[in-house]
Amino acid sequence: MEQKKLKDLISQMTLEEKASLCSGLDFWHTKGIERLGIPSGMVSDGPHGLRKQDQTADHLGINDSIKAVCFPAGCATASSFDRDLLRKLGETLGEECQAEDVSTILGPAMNIKRSPLCGRNFEYYSEDPLVSTEMAGAFVHGVQSKHVGTSPKHFMANNQEYHRMTSSSEMDERTMREIYLASFEGMVRKEKPWTIMNSYNKLNGTYLCENKEMLIDILRKEWGFDGYVMTDWGAMNERVEALKAGCNLEMPSCGGATDAEIAAAVQEGELEEAVLDKRCEEFLNIIFRYEENREKKAVFQLERDHGIARQMEEECMVLLKNEGAILPLSAEKKAAFIGKYAKAPRYQGGGSSHINSFKVESAMDAIGFCEKVKEENIIFAQGYDDAEDVTDEVLLAEAVEAAKHADVAVVFAGLPDNFESEGYDRKHMGMPDCQNRLIEAVSKVQPNTVVVLHNGAPVEMPWIGKVKAVLEAYLGGQAVGGAVVNVLYGNANPSGRLAETFPLRLQDTPCYLNYGGEHDKSVYSEGVFVGYRYYASKDMEVLFPFGHGLSYTTFSYENVAVNKEKITESEMLTVTVDVANTGKMAGKEVVQLYISPKGGAAIRPVRELKAFEKIELAPGETGKVQFTLDRRAFAYWSTQIHGWHVESGEYEIQIGKNAQDILLSYPVEVESEGHIPKVFNMNSTMGEILADPKGKEILEQAMAGTGAAQAMAGDGEAISGEMMAAMMEGMPLRQLASFVPGVTKEALNQLISALNA
Ligand code: BGC
Repeated sequence: MEQKKLKDLISQMTLEEKASLCSGLDFWHTKGIERLGIPSGMVSDGPHGLRKQDQTADHLGINDSIKAVCFPAGCATASSFDRDLLRKLGETLGEECQAEDVSTILGPAMNIKRSPLCGRNFEYYSEDPLVSTEMAGAFVHGVQSKHVGTSPKHFMANNQEYHRMTSSSEMDERTMREIYLASFEGMVRKEKPWTIMNSYNKLNGTYLCENKEMLIDILRKEWGFDGYVMTDWGAMNERVEALKAGCNLEMPSCGGATDAEIAAAVQEGELEEAVLDKRCEEFLNIIFRYEENREKKAVFQLERDHGIARQMEEECMVLLKNEGAILPLSAEKKAAFIGKYAKAPRYQGGGSSHINSFKVESAMDAIGFCEKVKEENIIFAQGYDDAEDVTDEVLLAEAVEAAKHADVAVVFAGLPDNFESEGYDRKHMGMPDCQNRLIEAVSKVQPNTVVVLHNGAPVEMPWIGKVKAVLEAYLGGQAVGGAVVNVLYGNANPSGRLAETFPLRLQDTPCYLNYGGEHDKSVYSEGVFVGYRYYASKDMEVLFPFGHGLSYTTFSYENVAVNKEKITESEMLTVTVDVANTGKMAGKEVVQLYISPKGGAAIRPVRELKAFEKIELAPGETGKVQFTLDRRAFAYWSTQIHGWHVESGEYEIQIGKNAQDILLSYPVEVESEGHIPKVFNMNSTMGEILADPKGKEILEQAMAGTGAAQAMAGDGEAISGEMMAAMMEGMPLRQLASFVPGVTKEALNQLISALNA
């Protein structure tokens, strides 16, 4: 609706009517105003399926919702590194929403995976902000192309479940910009989500619902967000403050209580009515956008969408290990499918994203209809019961027997529901002991053991050296069984790549010492060194690095080239690389481009992912992948200018198989066009002054003829030239007056004036 019409409408409202629009009607609906033709709209969870509750409502996944389709969760879809897949998922959900008259789907969930322990990591995309923002952006694009809104969440820095409603995420400005805001930024700028959901937690002491810097200054003013902000369910703190800070809608219903607070604040002069009008306008703009584009004929196509869920999962799975190319399996070989999850897969996580699947397809179901599988060659043994983490010796013995008499054992394992969920964090990265024991026992009698994992976050794999293959299926949605069988038997070639690192041990993780925090403060002291930024910079061994994933074919990389070897920061850089499928099967490769700064004063990760493309190649085919990089690929957030800054110098363009395996690189020279203004004083160091071209010139001139040059040289015996240089680098100007003959305080003051002129 046009702005003028919206303003007209608002001018016809009473103060109470306006205030009433600022909170929900009930658990899932926004309020309408009948006399003015303002409709009430429904919002529903997601985001990897539709969780529309038409009966008893809750936000913890307790009561049932309508029968729907559960797609692979965020942990899985991000591993596809495939924007088209996320767009397709969004489109499919958008159609489902239209069919069910849901105006907005509450997702995507896109917080950064700061620690593998976060109970909600299964919903989130990545430890890397580029992957997160690109995947989320494609999802938002897909949903909104069907004229349905999204609510990217949880804005922001909601990276733990522990005390999520009271804890403050404490971080410095640069970390916030480069990691946690960056996860949302690209998506907001490019896709303009209709709504944003603010998180429960505080950020540096201020609840997100009341955080004007986040909700107005950054979200609206910097990034151009033009939708409305709603709270997470129950995330409202002080209603009037939140309204001023840019939070439009409190969810769910407040029973009228905070609407009255808003009206009273206006009457008492504590809140300008114009602010309330603005919040109403932002809100109504979206409400009408949905109403004006209703597709009343849409139907929920459960079976079609089940098929889509299966195809998607085939693209998401990550083949972590495949020794001796044991996979794909041959249909002729006798296979023992072992483990409860082969019959009852764990395919989704607990909490508000829990979908009431209209059916679930297990691997055992799928052997009946997947190609290249002979049902008669497969036997099943349950192996464990995950209700409690206790080994059932009878089940274990049966499984070992089955494994012994087969040509290959495929163990379906992972994390049970009670190990990871919304609402609490994991305490460790272990799998249940009973499952680890089963894998050990099976691998002892069967050298050809394959493990299929159903989990939402990294796990430790104490048995990794004893099994031939590991297929990470993640929480793969209701059709996971068919997808797994298709990959196991080579009907589909795995092409997922890890969007997160699998560390060797929890103790290795960057925030191990302070994750969760104390006294409701969680200090992000690892700064920008999150995930692979930390492991790669420290050159640490990990179980599987970020970006890792195998295929049934092989790829080779050649001819990395750039359009220019020297650019100024405002110029675009084009990078091309040839990728060839050197194997015998068609397959997809995720080509990853990292930037590695080779100098500069800022402390930065050894490399950061700045672009990626997924490319499909037939056997023998070569494809050229092209990337275009702008200044942001080279920039870091400077807290001196409160903006992005590119340092002059050399940067290496690195093309990698993953964050720890760089195949090709190319150096480029980037010239900065930015300027960080510097004010020199008596405590400026010689190093700082000499690093500044003008400073260098002035200082050298001023020092000529004094004893300084001599004093700085070092005599070559007790103090070498190198040692002297290091000492001088850190020496403040004021000290020159104390020990360099001929240098006076007055002379130094003149020098400072010249430097600052
Ligand atoms: C979750 C949100 C969800 C909301 C509504 C909250 O507990 O954090 O992600 O959208 O409930 O169910």
